[in-house]
Amino acid sequence: MRLILIFIIAFMYVINETKPWKLTATQRSPVIFVPGDGGSQLEAQLNKTVVPHYLCEKVSSDYFNIWLNLELLVPIIIDCFIDNMKLTYHNDTRTTTNTEGVSVRVPGWGDPFSVEYLDPSKASPGNYFKDVGNMLVNQLGYVRNLSLRGAPYDFRKAPNENGEFFIKLKQLVEETYVINNKVPITLIAHSMGGPMTLLFLQNQTQKWKNQYIKSLITLGAVWGGSVKALKVFAVGDNLGAYVLRESILRDQQITSPSLGWLLPSKYFWKDTEVLVQTQKKNYTLLDLQQFFLDINVPNGWEFRKDTEKFQANFAAPGVEMYCLHGVNVSTVERLYYKPGVTLDSYPQLILGDGDGTVNLRSLEGCLYWKTKQKQKIYHQTFAGVDHMEILRNQHVLDYIKTTLSTI
Ligand SMILES: *[C@@H]1O[C@H](CO)[C@@H](O)[C@H](O)[C@H]1NC(C)=O
Ligand SMILES: *[C@@H]1O[C@H](CO)[C@@H](O)[C@H](O)[C@H]1NC(C)=O
Ligand SMILES: *[C@@H]1O[C@H](CO)[C@@H](O)[C@H](O)[C@H]1NC(C)=O
Ligand SMILES: *[C@@H]1O[C@H](CO)[C@@H](O)[C@H](O)[C@H]1NC(C)=O
Ligand SMILES: *[C@@H]1O[C@H](CO)[C@@H](O)[C@H](O)[C@H]1NC(C)=O
Ligand SMILES: *[C@@H]1O[C@H](CO)[C@@H](O)[C@H](O)[C@H]1NC(C)=O
Repeated sequence: MRLILIFIIAFMYVINETKPWKLTATQRSPVIFVPGDGGSQLEAQLNKTVVPHYLCEKVSSDYFNIWLNLELLVPIIIDCFIDNMKLTYHNDTRTTTNTEGVSVRVPGWGDPFSVEYLDPSKASPGNYFKDVGNMLVNQLGYVRNLSLRGAPYDFRKAPNENGEFFIKLKQLVEETYVINNKVPITLIAHSMGGPMTLLFLQNQTQKWKNQYIKSLITLGAVWGGSVKALKVFAVGDNLGAYVLRESILRDQQITSPSLGWLLPSKYFWKDTEVLVQTQKKNYTLLDLQQFFLDINVPNGWEFRKDTEKFQANFAAPGVEMYCLHGVNVSTVERLYYKPGVTLDSYPQLILGDGDGTVNLRSLEGCLYWKTKQKQKIYHQTFAGVDHMEILRNQHVLDYIKTTLSTI
């Protein structure tokens, strides 16, 4: 008896050591999370000679969590954070670099933890794919690092500077497929992760997609840009936390080429639509360059030029798709500067329909492909569910659960 027990334990041990997934694999479609803007952990290491404030650290012996680290967003320290997090644009190479003496890396490739929690200490404002992840694990038997993976990237940069991400994502899909008994993958993408995934899929052959991809689930995907990006260039964004000053965070936000990629697409907005209204001049998409000059962010126009080509390719993803998004949440569609005020002041935000961040027309971009591909496209809206709440709303979680239980 005793011997048999030892034998069994040893046997289990051997199996566990070599191929742990053989024991735990689920036959459900394995999931890879593709995050949006701000949706990946970032780590920084410092070796600086110049800092904006004497309280700022110059040298760090090792990499530390910089995004999202709430301790770094308090007064004064936030100035250090901005300097460490911002990018410098070089218009000759049309690429960006970190501040001199700062190295930034994206931890946890493949590990869902890196996108479930932006703050590794798990402080709640940093919860990201956490609720979707917990639902998949607790209710559907998914296993982190095996049938549930994460694909983080440096969200500050646009696709032209994220070439490595697309190569690695293909490898991650293939690897995840293999370790799950060749069950095709479901990609779950949020916000900017939607168009990132679209670019990725457009670049693969149909044969590859048929073999490796089961479906794509998008949550609040930014298919055609958003006026919100223009608002961030103009006045910044407080990330939904009222204690944070938009105007301070803006200093970092306006250095991100990805924000230029998220500007309203000319395939979704007409040249005649006023995006910014002032007494003297109205700005439409045709006046975007002038607008960036007038708000003194000339690089905004460079980012636009560098990324417009990624908006231009709107070929269908070529995979079965579930396009989920909120509606009926007030969403900025125009900046209105009252007569007499300059572009330095705070505009009134004229609101329209959307999910609070992305305009409705952009969220609905997926409908365009209904007649452009033979794989099915399911479209589901959630009234009153905003751009971030879609990651934790019970109806959304139920929809994802049902979808993954039946495909
Ligand atoms: C920091 O940079 C200096 C040169 O600027 C270099 O000599 C030193 O080795 C660097 N320190 C670390 C820890 O990388
Ligand atoms: C790059 O920026 C410099 C200085 O702002 C400017 O003089 C130059 O024309 C720019 N070059 C290009 C290619 O945009
Ligand atoms: C996933 O893998 C990473 C890297 O190997 C590891 O640090 C982490 O603990 C793993 N997570 C789980 C839940 O096993
Ligand atoms: C598409 O494929 C080309 C050629 O392999 C590669 O250079 C490019 O980075 C890829 N782009 C994306 C978005 O995957
Ligand atoms: C700007 O647009 C608004 C609304 O479309 C219009 O009423 C106004 O006259 C325009 N102003 C200018 C300066 O063109
Ligand atoms: C949006 O709200 C309006 C007014 O509150 C309501 O009439 C409409 O039915 C709502 N639309 C959706 C899709 O829920």
